[in-house]
Amino acid sequence: MGLDCRALRRDFPLLENRGIVYLDNAASTLKPSPVVEAMVSFTHDTYANVHRGVYELSLKASRLYEEAHEVVAGFIGAESWEEIVFTRNTSESIQLAAMLLYWNGYIGRGDEVVVTEADHHSNLLPWVRVAEKAGARLKLVPVNSRGIPEWRALASMISERTRVVAFGHASNVTGYINPVKSISKIAREHGAMVVVDGAQSVPHMPINVADLGVDFLAFSGHKMLGPTGIGVLYARRDLAEKLDPPLGAGGTVRRVRLKGGRVSIEWDSMPWKLESGTPPIIEAVGLMEAVRYLEKIGMENVRSHEASLTEKALTLLSGIEEVEILGPENAEERLGVVSFSIRGLNPDAAGYALSRMGIAVRTGLHCAHILHDRLGHPEGSIRASFYIYNCVEDVELLARAVEEVARKYAGKTAGPAG
Ligand code: ALA
Repeated sequence: MGLDCRALRRDFPLLENRGIVYLDNAASTLKPSPVVEAMVSFTHDTYANVHRGVYELSLKASRLYEEAHEVVAGFIGAESWEEIVFTRNTSESIQLAAMLLYWNGYIGRGDEVVVTEADHHSNLLPWVRVAEKAGARLKLVPVNSRGIPEWRALASMISERTRVVAFGHASNVTGYINPVKSISKIAREHGAMVVVDGAQSVPHMPINVADLGVDFLAFSGHKMLGPTGIGVLYARRDLAEKLDPPLGAGGTVRRVRLKGGRVSIEWDSMPWKLESGTPPIIEAVGLMEAVRYLEKIGMENVRSHEASLTEKALTLLSGIEEVEILGPENAEERLGVVSFSIRGLNPDAAGYALSRMGIAVRTGLHCAHILHDRLGHPEGSIRASFYIYNCVEDVELLARAVEEVARKYAGKTAGPAG
């Protein structure tokens, strides 16, 4: 059974109340009523800090917080809930993975870290900085003219000094879905770790970490119907168990003692040793509800619904003379992300004109500056990205509005007046 976008829209008051065509889902998704209600009722009835009290409320809150780890683990096929670490967002998850590996001596002088030219800054800057600090070399897999990483080059780029291969599962600009399984296989054959940025994939398709063969997977709650302020780092248990936390603080230890004038620390087990300070408790309850909501719909249905919207968008937009579409031509190669430019019109000016017609898209460089330079669009692009509550009418409205904007403004030096 497919997905009924019209019925789902009733759970999103913002869509009903504002009449907006919301096509900025790669940046953040809207929140359905059950997610908001779960957080409100937990806050009113059960809230307390977790793992810090033996009174009833704290025990109940702790249990729910643990259950959130279990639900997320099930959603991505993790072996255990102990492999799920809650962070603030994808950026923080990837930074935690990078710091963990550096802190524990996995990346040192003369080692190599491989990323791609397609990666957005969340998966680029942490590795640039760790490589600099460690004296390691950062290698970037080049992209072709459509912004697709040339993975054929990996075999000649990877060596026995490569410690990490880190990349986005799906691009936030082109939507291209990287072949994670085969990349993981090559990385593993060379003894390298695989760190995957799942910010754009986990909310939109079925994911199984064991099948993908990754060591770390990062994603955000707010891009999958959950609240802001919570992200996830999946960390393979047998690896994570051996690692000392770079962010040791309250909540990460079993026991601290003063021994012979020195502070000795006994770290807690996974995942607590990696969740420093009071964690995102209310947000975890919201994320758990978001995962249940998605599971009820079925991730196969989410994927195929978005694929049909993407195909429609590619067909309609490519029929507009002034439009240039970035990324793969074939809808099957991408998730529900379509970035494009309107010849002769600055992307922000186009975004502003679309906004006045009730259409919300992201414009600019989408935190992927190198990729836009490589694609010959240093000024950025206009990005439409879809989710479960978008219906085909949204895509048609987008295409009509883009055509109108292109006819009206393209080629004129001044865009729409502010
Ligand atoms: N990385 C997010 C985006 O692409 C924020 O919009």
